[in-house]
Amino acid sequence: MADTKKLYIKTYGCQMNVYDSERMAEAMGGAGYETTESPDDADMILLNTCHIREKAAEKVYSELGRFKGLKAEKPDLKIGVAGCVAQAEGEEIMRRQPMVDLVVGPQAYHRLPEMEAKTQGGEKALDTDFPEEDKFERLKSRPKAKRGPTAFLTVQEGCDKFCAFCVVPYTRGAEVSRPVDRILTEARDLVERGVREITLLGQNVNAYHGAGPKGDMTLAGLIWELDKVDGLERIRFTTSHPNDMMDDLIEAHGTCGKLMPYLHLPVQSGSNKILKRMNRSHDRDSYLRLVERIRAARPDILLSGDFIVGFPEETEADFQDTMDLIEEVKYGQAFSFKYSARPGTPAAERPLVDDAEASDRLYRLQALITRQQRAIQDSMVGREVSVLFERPGRLAGQMVGKSEYLHAVHVADCDARTGDLARVRIVESGANSLAGILVDH
Ligand code: SAH
Ligand code: SF4
Ligand code: F3S
Repeated sequence: MADTKKLYIKTYGCQMNVYDSERMAEAMGGAGYETTESPDDADMILLNTCHIREKAAEKVYSELGRFKGLKAEKPDLKIGVAGCVAQAEGEEIMRRQPMVDLVVGPQAYHRLPEMEAKTQGGEKALDTDFPEEDKFERLKSRPKAKRGPTAFLTVQEGCDKFCAFCVVPYTRGAEVSRPVDRILTEARDLVERGVREITLLGQNVNAYHGAGPKGDMTLAGLIWELDKVDGLERIRFTTSHPNDMMDDLIEAHGTCGKLMPYLHLPVQSGSNKILKRMNRSHDRDSYLRLVERIRAARPDILLSGDFIVGFPEETEADFQDTMDLIEEVKYGQAFSFKYSARPGTPAAERPLVDDAEASDRLYRLQALITRQQRAIQDSMVGREVSVLFERPGRLAGQMVGKSEYLHAVHVADCDARTGDLARVRIVESGANSLAGILVDH
């Protein structure tokens, strides 16, 4: 048997890239590769990249620069670029960094083993097609090795929304949903391997409309099917678009016991003028009404959001509208970014906000979000939550897991094991996590 080769994958960007990296590693397993944690002993280095903001894309080139020395020492080392930068820049990557052997887009990575074989023959390999065939059908079924208690599962890919600032519709293509039976098979496999919590992924996951036994199914329909899977204890999904929050999904938050009370519902801005220019097709009031309906279905739900500050022509008054909206919603978690002009998107043509002003807005917005986050986290003290333990902590006897609200929870002197689900009483709220004690122990 040929020697096993080593593959080092570095993942940037969103959870969908994390999932894709797992699937790429598995695909390369079939071509004789096992993964390694270090680039130094790798036979192949694969960067799974993100194109969402300028900094993310530039990171790829600086990282590639760092591998130059390694490649000089080890001429047989293969270097590949996958993900959204690969899709957006294609051949340009090889022009800028000639040592790159392989460039593969997010919809073509099932072809990685053939591409790798091509590079072994000394050729370059490039594939940024959106092929007719479904990559998930071409990928081998997933291996049976035991794994940790939480997993991602991509159910929907691509985006048809074309927000004026965003590259995703170009890098990931049109919205496509995977069929229900394939998702259920994958979920059952994951559960057999020790998984107890699955996060369903999609760029617009709540636009899911996969083929089911009796026609297309909504995301809520899929969640109810997963609810029947024995051994699966928790279901989450991300990322949702406010316009696709259907009635059955809102209702499921109140009625499906396995669906966790956490919802990532990005709004981007609180200004109607900016939302319109962003092509978000929801406005401030429709978003606030939606939040009200979700909270009516599940009063304790923890909401998280994404915000962009300094979008072209955003004034201080527009920014204040965003701050007011945040005050009104009260987020338990949020991700906020300074606008980054992306080539090829409509917003990139518009006049930029002064950079120092945008930085100042980001600072103020993050301070407000941090206060809200902390207040919600602190309000957990004294409450009993359920915790799924994910790993031992740094201190002896300590275990770390996540509550249903996705707060990290530390428990000292804990006899629970990884994968256990336990009731925990929260006794303390720290900088980024909670501390608790096991109930009934
Ligand atoms: N599909 C998801 C978001 C995917 S991108 C949604 O619609 O919410 C993740 C986040 O990155 C976005 O929510 C947005 O806040 C941010 N983002 C996207 N493009 C950006 C850009 N050009 N500049 C700054 N932030 C951006
Ligand atoms: Fe980008 Fe908008 Fe699509 Fe989200 S909904 S991926 S922000 S275009
Ligand atoms: Fe980045 Fe692509 Fe995800 S651009 S955020 S890796 S879909």
